[in-house]
Amino acid sequence: MDLPIPNPDPIPVPGEIGLILFLLYLTFSIHVVLMNILLGGLVLTFVSELVSRHSGSPECRHRHEHLAERLSHILPFAVSLTITFGIAPLLFVQGIYGQFFYTSSVLMAWVWLGVLLLILIGYYSLYLYTRGFARFARRRYWFIGISLAMFLMVAFIYVNNLTLMQTPQKWLGIYTGTQGSGWHWNLDEATLWPRYLHFALSAVAVAGMMVLGLGLRERDEARAAFMCRWGGSWFLGATALQIGVGLWFYYAIPGHLRAIFLDQEGAARILFVSAHVFFTVGALCIGLASFGRAGARTGWTGIGLILAGIAEKVINRDQLRQAYLGQVGWNFTTLQTAPQHDVIALFFVFLVAGLGLLAWVIARYRRETAQAR
Ligand code: HEM
Repeated sequence: MDLPIPNPDPIPVPGEIGLILFLLYLTFSIHVVLMNILLGGLVLTFVSELVSRHSGSPECRHRHEHLAERLSHILPFAVSLTITFGIAPLLFVQGIYGQFFYTSSVLMAWVWLGVLLLILIGYYSLYLYTRGFARFARRRYWFIGISLAMFLMVAFIYVNNLTLMQTPQKWLGIYTGTQGSGWHWNLDEATLWPRYLHFALSAVAVAGMMVLGLGLRERDEARAAFMCRWGGSWFLGATALQIGVGLWFYYAIPGHLRAIFLDQEGAARILFVSAHVFFTVGALCIGLASFGRAGARTGWTGIGLILAGIAEKVINRDQLRQAYLGQVGWNFTTLQTAPQHDVIALFFVFLVAGLGLLAWVIARYRRETAQAR
């Protein structure tokens, strides 16, 4: 059957495919970690907000209020950095998979465009929470709750679009079924919910890891112990649930596609297996550091291993997308390339300069807030 897949963009890809994929993996890995800090951070702030209101113990209330305030100062930065580090992979995805990504975005156009409105509401609501922490003390949980709901919805829309783009077999039916109205959710996709939950749990785990990291750097001993235990518990709880959700996700992928993770000769298997080894050893280190059985160095090693595993999963995710698209005859040879090395070199210069500037701003911010305390 002829599928309504548009031709690749007539403008050639502006770099070797390997280089563009490398840039996609690099920038998307950063996006994913920041997005996890944002989404999971919102969950943990919301929970601390509730505990600080309803706990019977004044000490517990105080600790959670302090944690909620601390996180609330990190989250607005996480929003802006998530967006900034979303734009770069967006360019690379369009460069390589444009013919699929544009079509799925058009099929669910209104839902997709809704992302802008949701981010706007989520961002303002978060600012009201952070800036009005003392002023709106009694009602501020509404702001963090609204922000959490908005960003959870944004992530759900992304998962809808990115699963729809890799199943062009469904497009014609959707277009005729919706009469091209642009109102479509990809809800009949078997991997949709496990994939979404996989991202959501990963977000909670990474945010837990961040709280552990804050605890490892905290000077006040009682606060440090609380943050390490609390952050570590969220990390370990979400990771334990991830085992079930991960298996659900794996078995929801059609057998002939997930076979790439079993192929003895393929790179996908090496990445898949080593990512899980990193997650297991990383979780062990984090568990030991969180509950005082090992020092800060073990905790940081665990955090490093988990981040390395996430980067490997980012590549695995793209390899799976290539397997999906291979079913409709797509592969890299269908793309033309015309490398523009000067432009790519410029991109690297700005990327390194931008990251350097960011590191400087964060260092300066930390210095000034430490002096103001
Ligand atoms: C601020 C809230 C955001 C959240 C919570 C969020 C969440 C997500 C999630 C969950 C995915 C993975 C979806 C999947 O693979 O099924 C994703 C992918 C992606 N996001 Fe974000 N995102 C946000 C903002 C943005 C923005 C503003 C941009 C671009 C300007 C962006 C660009 C991307 C791109 C390009 C991908 C896919 C990369 C690829 O397929 O290789 N994101 N996002």
